[in-house]
Amino acid sequence: MSRFKRIDSIVEAVGNTPLVRLRNIERDTPGVKIYLKLEYANPGGSVKDRPALQMLRDAIADGRLTKDKTLIDATSGNTGVAYSMFGACLGYKIALVMPSNVSQARKNITQAFGTELIHSDPMEGSDGAIRLVRKLVTEQPDKYFYADQYSNPSNPRAHYLGTGREILEQVGDEITHFVTGLGTSGTMMGTTRRLREHGRKIACVAAEPAEALHGLEGLKHMESSIVPNIYDPTLPDEILPVPTEGGWDMADRLAREEGLHVGHSTGGNVWAAVALAKRAKEGCIVTVACDRGDRYFAPMRWEKHHEW
Ligand SMILES: Cc1ncc(COP(=O)(O)O)c(C=O)c1O
Repeated sequence: MSRFKRIDSIVEAVGNTPLVRLRNIERDTPGVKIYLKLEYANPGGSVKDRPALQMLRDAIADGRLTKDKTLIDATSGNTGVAYSMFGACLGYKIALVMPSNVSQARKNITQAFGTELIHSDPMEGSDGAIRLVRKLVTEQPDKYFYADQYSNPSNPRAHYLGTGREILEQVGDEITHFVTGLGTSGTMMGTTRRLREHGRKIACVAAEPAEALHGLEGLKHMESSIVPNIYDPTLPDEILPVPTEGGWDMADRLAREEGLHVGHSTGGNVWAAVALAKRAKEGCIVTVACDRGDRYFAPMRWEKHHEW
């Protein structure tokens, strides 16, 4: 479908993202094609537009979210931007709980849409934000709709209906492997379920930070994290550990060699795709560009050397 189209509202701009071939990175892996699905082309700038919109739509459809309620979730990242954008557009109130020490840039981007920010204890990190949301929702169940992206089946459903279907339409029968990193795991779970319906076997691989303390923002090291309820560990054919350095270096290469300025989780995804390509020797591998590098601009990437 063409992106050259007239639309009635910003929600119609979600999905149908381009799939770009990485011809320069591919020089390291002769015989294997590598494609990157540019989820940063979504209007909120990330892969999280799809699940945020699906969670809103499904909750509106079955009455869990009404105009007198406030959608609340714990996120300082891309999902928060997406909720805020669609909340503004569709006329629903949004509240986000985030540790008070998240960057000013992160706070500004969601507040611009009129979102209410609630700060949790910076010493308790993202788990503290989750605990505070649960407390608020328990105290005032009629006020809030708790979207809970880690447990909400609409999250992987968005990728089943969108990302996975689009990948098959874009590469057709050529695809041999799909690989993507695990955050909430929505992208991996939903896309894999759709690819599994294809007639021929497609290897679906989950990329995971190799270390518990890592610098691949957006991704989770499952063993040392609260495991999302939507994560089914039996679904991926393989879990591929990705070192932080590998992801960061690949993000730099994608900017310089392909003109794709991406975040570090995308660097990790392409690092994993190249590792698979070197092993496979022939085939066609698809992975995902989760967001743009400029979302990490404060401080600049080269100013925050190895801060994780
Ligand atoms: C930058 C970035 N990369 C990767 C992911 C992982 O995506 P998912 O939550 O679908 O596993 C996220 C999700 O929060 C993200 O924000």
